[in-house]
Amino acid sequence: MHPLTQKLLSWYRENARDLPWRAAPEPYSIWLSEVILQQTRVAQGKGYWERFLSAFPTVADLAAAPTEQVMSLWKGLGYYSRARNLHLAAQRIVSERNGQLPVKAEEWAALPGIGPYTAAAIASICFHEAIPVIDGNVQRVMSRLFDIAEPVDRKAGRKAIEAFCAELVATEAPGDSNQGWMELGALVCTPQSPDCLNCPLSESCLSRERGTQMQRPVKQPKKSPLEWDVQFLIPLRKSRSGRWEWWVETRPEKGIWSQLEAFPCVMGPKSDGAHPDAFGPVQHILTHRKMTAWFKVEDAPDAKRGHGRWVNVEQGDANWPRIIDKVLPELRSWIVKN
Ligand code: ADE
Repeated sequence: MHPLTQKLLSWYRENARDLPWRAAPEPYSIWLSEVILQQTRVAQGKGYWERFLSAFPTVADLAAAPTEQVMSLWKGLGYYSRARNLHLAAQRIVSERNGQLPVKAEEWAALPGIGPYTAAAIASICFHEAIPVIDGNVQRVMSRLFDIAEPVDRKAGRKAIEAFCAELVATEAPGDSNQGWMELGALVCTPQSPDCLNCPLSESCLSRERGTQMQRPVKQPKKSPLEWDVQFLIPLRKSRSGRWEWWVETRPEKGIWSQLEAFPCVMGPKSDGAHPDAFGPVQHILTHRKMTAWFKVEDAPDAKRGHGRWVNVEQGDANWPRIIDKVLPELRSWIVKN
């Protein structure tokens, strides 16, 4: 074993966080944890992992669940394609593999939503496959340890990191060494304030020696998010019992807020036009878009509409996207007042 890996493993075994999925590394629950952690912090993801597993204790339960229930348990985590793919993959495992989970990383990677990172994590943690896991934490640790000046998100930098990672996997304990590199990045070698004094590898760290920690990892310049306006047009009616109802539609499978429920809307690049009689602005940042939303009551509530339903304004619930959910109380009182 490489001496750096040896030091890392000792550190990990002393300092690993006590995370619920680490207690019993079953492939189904590890798969779920890795998909959640792809774009979510541990502190936020833990509760989702627990709720998801208690709703669907096995892959068969997940496969058999209605899509709305899966999406609804994911609400607030973002990147909803993760939930859709998880559900699809569970269904494929049941229909095409007789409910048997894959073993090899290569087989995992053939399932929807499971890329090389997730496949390697599951196969190394659950089945001791000696294959490196490279996520954002690992990229940062390696780029500092070896002072890599190439952008880590371009070919040369990526290759350099892959080569170091391949050399530094513990073949006897690949799950622990992979989690150790990630853990070191999450707890010690953090983006803004690396704790070099408490790092088990600081004596070997080139960027520490050269003082370049804060310049690593190098990333290629990013495009700034596009700014978009959304106008929600809320169809409103009074039910026979005299209660207000608004109309919500299930969003199409492709595109933003896929399969969540929202009011009909129009959206486009930001304009600085006025929005009289509208509720807003509501700001919301997505990965590639900065959205500004306005809500307006639709003048023609009885127009013919697509797939949707009338929902009681005050008591009804829907599978809202965050941008609506976060202003729902204010929006309700604005609607009732107007
Ligand atoms: N981030 C994502 N997966 C992880 C894991 N298994 N250990 C530590 N951090 C992680």
